[in-house]
Amino acid sequence: MSGFKGTGKWGSLKENMPLTKERVDEKARHLLTQMSPKEKIQQMSGSTPLLRGLWDAWLAYNMRPLPAGENRRLSIPALCFSDGPRGVIMNHSTCFPVTIARGASWDTALEEQIGDAMGVEARSQGANIMASVCINLLRHPAWGRAQETYGEDPWHLGEMGAALVRGLQRHIMACVKHFAANSIENSRFRVDVRIDERTLREIYLAHFKRCVDEGAASVMSAYNKVNGHYCGHNSHLLRDILKKEWGFDGFVMSDFVLGIRNGKAANAGMDVEMPFTIHFGKRLMRLVQKGNVSEEVIDEAVLRILRQKIRFAQIGKPERYRPEAVLSPEHKALAREAAQKSIVLLKNEPVGDGSHRVLPIDTARIRRIAFIGKLAAKPNIGDKGSSMARPPYVITPLEGIRAAVPRDCEVIFSDGRAIKKAVDVARKADISLVIVGYTHRDEGEYMFTRGGDRDILTLKPHDETLILKTVAANPNTVVVIMGGSAIITEAWREKVPALLMAWYPGMEGGHALADILLGKVNPCAKLPCVFPRSESQLPFFDKRAKSIEYGYFHGYRLMDRQGQEPAFPFGFGLSYTTFAYKNLQIDRSEISPDESLKVSVDVTNTGNVAGEEIVQLYAGYSGSSVDRPVKELKGFSKVHLEPGQTKRLDFLLTAKQLAYYDEQQGKWIVEPLTYSVYAGPSSRTEELLSSKFRIRA
Ligand code: BGC
Repeated sequence: MSGFKGTGKWGSLKENMPLTKERVDEKARHLLTQMSPKEKIQQMSGSTPLLRGLWDAWLAYNMRPLPAGENRRLSIPALCFSDGPRGVIMNHSTCFPVTIARGASWDTALEEQIGDAMGVEARSQGANIMASVCINLLRHPAWGRAQETYGEDPWHLGEMGAALVRGLQRHIMACVKHFAANSIENSRFRVDVRIDERTLREIYLAHFKRCVDEGAASVMSAYNKVNGHYCGHNSHLLRDILKKEWGFDGFVMSDFVLGIRNGKAANAGMDVEMPFTIHFGKRLMRLVQKGNVSEEVIDEAVLRILRQKIRFAQIGKPERYRPEAVLSPEHKALAREAAQKSIVLLKNEPVGDGSHRVLPIDTARIRRIAFIGKLAAKPNIGDKGSSMARPPYVITPLEGIRAAVPRDCEVIFSDGRAIKKAVDVARKADISLVIVGYTHRDEGEYMFTRGGDRDILTLKPHDETLILKTVAANPNTVVVIMGGSAIITEAWREKVPALLMAWYPGMEGGHALADILLGKVNPCAKLPCVFPRSESQLPFFDKRAKSIEYGYFHGYRLMDRQGQEPAFPFGFGLSYTTFAYKNLQIDRSEISPDESLKVSVDVTNTGNVAGEEIVQLYAGYSGSSVDRPVKELKGFSKVHLEPGQTKRLDFLLTAKQLAYYDEQQGKWIVEPLTYSVYAGPSSRTEELLSSKFRIRA
């Protein structure tokens, strides 16, 4: 652990009793009256010296918390920043599966626990704010940082992000990023996202609002422009929507270094420049002196920062913040559970005479398993940019399976580079597993020589050939793919009997994969983004774009609209058991625009092993005055069912959740219409039960 003694501790601001919002505000205002103009501005930027920061970034980025705004005279502690989305970036901390993998768990309770673990580990290492909550919408699977977010749907993003906020904020401040419409990596510093107001509100911002409503302390602006203005200077986003309309009372921080371009960002609603003082120091002071930035703007920003510092000084469980809390056995077990719940079983066909399926592997019958592909024996936990993690070990798929099989079951391995050798190994085995996909070199934060947006959406040609040759030699072949978002599988999918999506499954991923392959754990994850058959099913994407139009439709919404079949639908995932849906009921057939109704459905485990099912609720619109999706997600819930067991699930649906944003009137409209509700196991229409109700005028 680092020797950082920093100011992540709240000492001076802590009181002996919980504070009301009013008291927090009063305390912040009192502190403000004691501050000189220089001290105020000093609250508003990171205090890492530029050269040291750049040197550290090169050698060991964010190994220590990055401080901002310490004031010793008034005993105001610094913000102490740590990334990242899949676990604390500092030192050797617990590395969870990447965010998109956790998105596939659809498990808000689990995500909250992960937030709790990250918060404890961050605070135990001197941090008090963590930028883990990345909820940018996955518009196109080529986006290099897709792995850092939960998926393509605003409702799902909002619920998962809010769960992480809840967990983190038991201990530290959560920073929700990147506000907004940030989903192209290579041209992120300059791309201008052109977007109409309705699309912005409904598709790209709804999930940010959800996290703000959950009480998030901080929001990080994005690098890109939205409608001609850099997000860090975008007063429509930061002031009009975030602060005024949504009533956000936390502070906005810039994305690092290029997140703002000059001190006038303060006028647009930027509160903290990170991680250096470039514009929000002497330059900002000069702008204030010249009258280009008003003192009220500075006071408002400082008050926002102080309020959160005071609020969080009262929060936490000091007895939990100790060196042993980092990488504790409980956190490692949680990382394993998260991986088990995020690996998606996409295909599992009967093989041979149809009497059994390939998965789970029956080690009582199978004597030899072949592991093929270079990712089988390689630690592969995803991006090595700002979302990197530095766990002390990573269990590879090969290590995981070796630790799990009985002694009399042999595991043989070929890295797959020489296809002929791999085929020989596959031929000798009862079952073969091909583990292929991407690494941080192919996708992630853009580091010039690695990462960035993906060039292709299929597997690499070598991997595709390896799969085809292996399955030709051994029909009992399971393919496991790794990557940060959808992969096109057309060239080989029909040929293989079983397929799993493992994403980047974190430090315990190899154990979790073995648990699923051997049936010790029943897979329950479902896709948080559609897997297309071809690129033509997706919206336009250009990683070099200087300007790009973001339309209303993408992902399953776009495919539904075009009447296209994806390879695997949004919300899809198999289990070793089966589930049946019955008795979809709505408790009222008509409601008014400020009422809600209850939707209920019975789900039965019709197989012979226990399992967890992710039950999804969608809404559809008939005769709307605006262009609406065929259906869109409005709820989900996870349920555990023993064989034969039935549970009834209830969802609350409010009329407001069905509103659209009217650009002309600048408000949300609940239309008097007939609405459909759908409940079922995925977004695939054929699998959904449906019913209708009306909202009256
Ligand atoms: C990334 C952010 C990250 C920040 C600090 C930036 O390059 O875009 O996601 O939080 O660095 O690590």
